[in-house]
Order: sequence, then structure tokens, then C-alpha cells
Amino acid sequence: MSTIVTVCRNEHFNAAHRLYVKDWSDAQNNEVFGKCNNANYHGHNYNLTVELTGPIDEQTGYVYDLKLLSDMIKEEVLDKFDHKNLNLDTEEFKTLIPTAENITVVIYNLLRKKLPEHLALRIKLYETERNFVIYPA
Ligand code: NI
Repeated sequence: MSTIVTVCRNEHFNAAHRLYVKDWSDAQNNEVFGKCNNANYHGHNYNLTVELTGPIDEQTGYVYDLKLLSDMIKEEVLDKFDHKNLNLDTEEFKTLIPTAENITVVIYNLLRKKLPEHLALRIKLYETERNFVIYPA
């Protein structure tokens, strides 16, 4: 029986966003989203952890080659979102509100389709040092 372990890769990107519901009044948006509703956007330094859980391959000793994972995260996530305005510059958040929750699920879906099915994927996204989201929950 193979041993199951979790391997992790930390990455980082900077992006701007604005949280608002377009059908709401300014007052309502301010009440719910506070500073994150700033009309001229604001930035976050996002820290991303990608976790893969699966069996250690008997030949390679790997669960998954972390260089390949790093390249995949760069291509699927960082090249899309780093130094971008998430609301204006990305297809993913044209209509989807770019909360940390939604960004986390979008990143999960982008990576999930590229990874072998036998590996479980989990995403942690830190929007600030103290606020972070985990998906799947
Ligand atoms: Ni914000």
C-alpha cells in the first residue's frame, strides 16, 4: 500500500480589485464592502498555497514534481492575475465579484483541470496576513 502525503507549493501575486454589486447604491456597497469598495480600486499582496495529496510514487519518490506544479501555477494563475486589475483585466472576474473566496475557487478550477485525477487539490489564499480562504472547505 502506498503512503499518502501532501506536498505544497507557495506562490505570490499582487493584484487590484474592487468589491461591489453593480445593482446596489453606493451607500449599500460601502456598508457591505467598506474599503474594498473603493471606486478607484486597491491592491492586495496575495499569498497562495497549493496542496496536492496523493500516494508517493514508488519509482520517483514523488507525489508530483513540484517544478511541474510551479510551472503550472505560473501559467494558469500568475500570468493571468499578477499585477492585474482583477475586475478590468481578467475574463474570470468580468462578472464574478473578486472576493478572496471567489479567487480561491477560480484558482482551484484552473489547476484542477490540469492535474492528474488521483491527486486531491486544496487551495489556501491569503488576502492579508490574517485573512485567508481554504477550498475545498
Ligand atoms: Ni480588497
